[in-house]
Amino acid sequence: MCGIVGYAGPRDSVEVLLGGLRRLEYRGYDSAGVAVIGDDGALTTHKRAGKLGVLERDLDRSPLPASRTGIGHTRWATHGGPTDGNAHPHLGDDGRLALIHNGIIENFAALKDELLADGYAFQSETDTEVAAVLLGREYGRTKDLLAAFRAVVGRLHGAFTLLAVHADEPGLVVGARRNSPLVVGLGEGEQFLGSDVAAFVQYTRRAVAIGQDQIVAIRPDGIALTTFDGEPVEGEEYEVAWDASAADKGGWSSFMAKEISEEPEALEATLLGRVHDGLVVLDEIEGGFPDDVLRGVDRIVLLGAGTAAYSGLLGKYAIEKWAGVPVEVELAHEFRYRDPVLSEHTLVASISQSGETMDTLMAVKYARERGARTLSICNTQGATIARESDAVLYTRAGPEVAVASTKAFTAQVVALYLFGLHLGRVRGALSDADSRGLVAELQALPAKLQEVLAQGGEVREMARQMSDTRSVLFLGRHVGYPVALEGALKLKELAYIHAEGFAAGELKHGPIALIEPGQRVFVVVPSPRDSNSLHPKVVSNIQEIRARGAYVLAVAEAGDVAVLPFADEVLRIPLAGPMFEPLLAVAPLQQFAMELAAAKGLDVDQPRNLAKSVTVE
Ligand code: F6R
Repeated sequence: MCGIVGYAGPRDSVEVLLGGLRRLEYRGYDSAGVAVIGDDGALTTHKRAGKLGVLERDLDRSPLPASRTGIGHTRWATHGGPTDGNAHPHLGDDGRLALIHNGIIENFAALKDELLADGYAFQSETDTEVAAVLLGREYGRTKDLLAAFRAVVGRLHGAFTLLAVHADEPGLVVGARRNSPLVVGLGEGEQFLGSDVAAFVQYTRRAVAIGQDQIVAIRPDGIALTTFDGEPVEGEEYEVAWDASAADKGGWSSFMAKEISEEPEALEATLLGRVHDGLVVLDEIEGGFPDDVLRGVDRIVLLGAGTAAYSGLLGKYAIEKWAGVPVEVELAHEFRYRDPVLSEHTLVASISQSGETMDTLMAVKYARERGARTLSICNTQGATIARESDAVLYTRAGPEVAVASTKAFTAQVVALYLFGLHLGRVRGALSDADSRGLVAELQALPAKLQEVLAQGGEVREMARQMSDTRSVLFLGRHVGYPVALEGALKLKELAYIHAEGFAAGELKHGPIALIEPGQRVFVVVPSPRDSNSLHPKVVSNIQEIRARGAYVLAVAEAGDVAVLPFADEVLRIPLAGPMFEPLLAVAPLQQFAMELAAAKGLDVDQPRNLAKSVTVE
């Protein structure tokens, strides 16, 4: 939540900052602002409520003075509504210091009281302004931005990434982080700061992730990294695995349309280099999870939030089936508030696209403190959750910019399946022959998914006809159940339509009361070819709702004719093994939500009230 950019170098800083904010806008889009130190030595700030475009139009009309140092912010409001005044940057009382913030300063009220008692005044309702005024006071004492910054961050509680500049120290941007992300981009004669690498990847792919409770100072000629106490720290440089074009729309109508189209590629990339001789090999988790440790695991807890938690549900079905280890899936924000029973034999695997979700991060830290071993399934290189875990298995979906997750979900499921296959073999629960068969099914999925996506036009038509629908239900069973949950979540968040996902077997225990004539119901139908198939039961469920007037939209395997008499519309998916159907069935539901939102004229990439990276609890 909130996107942060900083720059020190020879370029026009406004251009660099706005470019960075455009790529970070998915993190929050209530308001935006920049502060620059002009070549004339003055600090100038401009900030506006609304999306970044509002600020950009202002700056087109009245450009800021030429500048080489600056900071920029795009906001997701926590303290104080989205107004011009609450937008960042906030200023110190001398008007020559500006500060931006991502996170929540939990002790801001006490600090504010202290500053009020000291005669300071405030212009906004934010917690951030308290840090800015505090920094201004400290600067008045020290006349040294870095020293003042160090003194201030030591007094803050909560989660924060802070960046600050002072007009008396042009060419310097200072930054600090605790529980919120911050990355440095290393250039030649210029340096960048960003909430994530998207902020600067068009200029450099050399990055250094800032560790927990560290301060960074960037100047055109280099960076200096210390702890909050000023102890020097060695930053670890890495190369960003994707280039700027990966974070562009590339001709698609929305990032979401592009990202759904990239699902086959995300799936393929996540498999890449992890299959040898037809078997899964996960060298990257060996350090944290050598085979003897995996053999000793007696329970797995999968943690995540929203879509990530739904991918975990699919992981549960796969891991229990292939590795025979009990798996629980829990919402990360519930987990640490209920005294979970953990031991060194519990493997806690977190699932997170951003690797920054505060709920998940805190749950991982808690699990570690309580002695569990932690694995991170993460899409963002060097993210905090990945670094806080004993091992990381990266999904390789590439940058996901649309706020609602699509290709990251598919990649998460594949990563969980890879882990399940690896674990199954290490523990002797899966023979090599069975393993090879399952791996081959996984490898066949990208091409099948491409076929599914090719039906986008049909889905669009279906969505257009339903643009005035007020409620949609989603039913699924077994691995179709998480798909139903995910289909409903996508529709809620993109199209603002009431949507619920149910296990089809649960219908008769209550939800069937919701069925009335015309109620739209998506049903994810399992394959009729599986000998243990739930197909007849789901077809019976369809008949039950049809008898009560529901309008049924089935997602069913090619050739499944049994659904035809009972479904009003059928979307087809190619034949796949039962565990793999969800990776095909979810795509039309994602497309449907996106198309329905588009038909209603909504912004599919930036749905209201949401932010991509939820870095507050
Ligand atoms: C829904 C969605 C969210 C995220 C959730 C976790 O479309 O994107 O539900 O899945 O906020 O985010 P990450 O995966 O970044 O931890």
